[in-house]
Amino acid sequence: MPDKGSNAHSDNSPVDQLNETDARAELARLAHIMAAANSAYHRDDAPEISDADYDALKARNLEIEARFPHLKRLDSPSEQVGAAPAEGFGKVTHTVRMLSLSNAFDAEDIADFDDRIRRYLGLTAEAPLAYTSEPKIDGLSLSLRYENGQLVQAATRGDGAVGENVTANARTIADIPQALTNAPEVLEVRGEVYMSHPDFEALNARQAEKSDKQFANPRNAAAGSLRQLDASITKSRPLRFFAYAWAALSEPLADSQMGAIERMAALGFQTNPLTALCDGPDALLSHYAKIEQVRATLGYDIDGVVYKVNDLGLQGRLGFRSTTPRWAIAHKFPAELAWTRLENIEIQVGRTGALSPVARLSPVTVGGVVVSNATLHNEDYIAGRDSKGGDIRGGKDIRVGDWVQVYRAGDVIPKVADVDLSKRPKDAEPFVFPLLCPECQSEAIREEGDAVRRCVGGLICPAQAVEKLKHFVSRAAFDIEGLGAKQVEQFYRDDWIHEPADIFTLKERYGSGMQQLKNREGWGEKSANNLFQAIEDKRNIEFGRVLFSLGIRHVGEQASNLLARTYGGWSEFTEAMGGASHEGPEWERLLGIDGVGEVMAKSLVTAFAPGAERDSIDRLAAHLAVQDAEQPQNDSPVAGKTVVFTGTLEKMTRAEAKARAESLGAKVSGSVSTKTDLLVAGPGAGSKAKKATDLGVETIDEDGWLTLIGDA
Ligand code: IVH
Repeated sequence: MPDKGSNAHSDNSPVDQLNETDARAELARLAHIMAAANSAYHRDDAPEISDADYDALKARNLEIEARFPHLKRLDSPSEQVGAAPAEGFGKVTHTVRMLSLSNAFDAEDIADFDDRIRRYLGLTAEAPLAYTSEPKIDGLSLSLRYENGQLVQAATRGDGAVGENVTANARTIADIPQALTNAPEVLEVRGEVYMSHPDFEALNARQAEKSDKQFANPRNAAAGSLRQLDASITKSRPLRFFAYAWAALSEPLADSQMGAIERMAALGFQTNPLTALCDGPDALLSHYAKIEQVRATLGYDIDGVVYKVNDLGLQGRLGFRSTTPRWAIAHKFPAELAWTRLENIEIQVGRTGALSPVARLSPVTVGGVVVSNATLHNEDYIAGRDSKGGDIRGGKDIRVGDWVQVYRAGDVIPKVADVDLSKRPKDAEPFVFPLLCPECQSEAIREEGDAVRRCVGGLICPAQAVEKLKHFVSRAAFDIEGLGAKQVEQFYRDDWIHEPADIFTLKERYGSGMQQLKNREGWGEKSANNLFQAIEDKRNIEFGRVLFSLGIRHVGEQASNLLARTYGGWSEFTEAMGGASHEGPEWERLLGIDGVGEVMAKSLVTAFAPGAERDSIDRLAAHLAVQDAEQPQNDSPVAGKTVVFTGTLEKMTRAEAKARAESLGAKVSGSVSTKTDLLVAGPGAGSKAKKATDLGVETIDEDGWLTLIGDA
């Protein structure tokens, strides 16, 4: 270990007496010391200098930079704003969410994609509809923000809403222009950071020489290199960047996808030379074939081809589903396959009690990644049956000791595709799926029509309790900084927390007294206080998050937000659910929500009916100030209104009308009732229009609707 004492303390000659040469040397020294301190703290979890010393170094660095701004280094420690050691990288809230793409695997999927779009837009099969087609780069996405032509911020995707501030790192990448001429005042360019094959090989060779870690594939190498707290490490790693999308703009780049790509190229970005304009599914497929043919010679990894509607006006109309655009799709290359031995089948118990069989494999490389686990889905899958009782794999079952074929498709969990009967050991026995939960010995039952066997132990099952807690603290749920899956597991094991409510009494119980958090291994005064504060900060929380965090089966993030918007307040909601049973007005109201089906409704009603689960929810709620749900776009004239569409719409399809209304904060319902605020009736409207008149519900036509929402 370096001599910390002498390094950590800075030269204390007053900054106003430094000359340029000394200042430059000291900035270099500070960058170096602080980078080492950062890695020690974050990468090795072994701080070398005290927080106070770190802060003093940081202050001096800032002072010198303020006096000699032109000497500020690319890897300046002050670039990591808000990224003091405890934080890692600063956080950046994306102006426009960074989304993913839905996947297609064959010609049929592409035909469906084209059909869906035509239907949504109300285009006939003959109407022209062009797409761009370009390689899907296997790297990591990055959002670059330019203001008045200057690069001011670079952020990773993170969870799509909030990413990490990697500005200093991005500045070291040659493909990323620092300054642009003739650019819009505000321009956010998005694209992929990646590493070429030769650069990847050379990096791993250098790492081997230093006995440093090897990267499994170019994508991991690119991610590991970009996400370095010390930007000088990023600089030493040859990263590249292709631009393919954009976010905030002060003026449009073009009116087509292709035009926008050309404009980005003209501004100095690298764009992929294999980008082509295609006039329909056939042309897309032949471009795909062409790219597949040259794939091995490109010199960088791609994992498919991305198709995008070329007309940006149409892209705008198509908009987004919750996490993917309707106007684009990724046509993935076939999954990579490998054969290996199945060492064991283990059963994991999930948050909702599902017993999931997991294959433990003899490690094997599949598409550049070492795989040692794969999902086996459920008992039928192991037995060689599909959900309808038909054969899969020709009815071959899977046994421990078998040679199995494993595949990975994109980022998903590896799967077992096939089994080689000729290599089956003589003594291999058919796998017997357990009828009791391996964690709590409660009965595991399989309901009719369900492929999955579930433990009925509920909260008495330790596996379910822990998984529920992990879900509770996850990013889209309570997202408590310093309380992740690992900590929750430890606290549960040591009887510190059993259910979500216990998190909110941690400080009371372990902030002082005999047993204290700060005295636990891996914790200290500062981290303990930070956690207590992080928990405190989450007492005031959005309704949708609370509901999602409960981990109720069939109630995902989107449904939670929908329910929150529909019921508005937590107490109104819980009261309604408590009284909803399986019939009556509250049950009808629940089922009447567009987006809530019977399965979800039953699951909700069961969770909120009097009993142990409801008590646990109420104990949690007692610690919280649950905020009423916000209506999105409150300024829209239809926000919060319940709208019904009926009859023929001529300027948009029903799907488009519904999506547009919802994006403006309206609730769209399929039937007219006293709760309906507005009926939009096109030609041919029948019983709904009559019912609306009877109930005195305001009725307008399609043009009236478009005028009302400002789309006319
Ligand atoms: S477009 C709104 N184009 O793939 C969607 N993505 O699976 C914007 N990717 O998160 C994405 N090459 O990181 C787009 N030519 C390309 C791409 C590409 C790679 C990545 C990107 C995205 C992921 C989605």
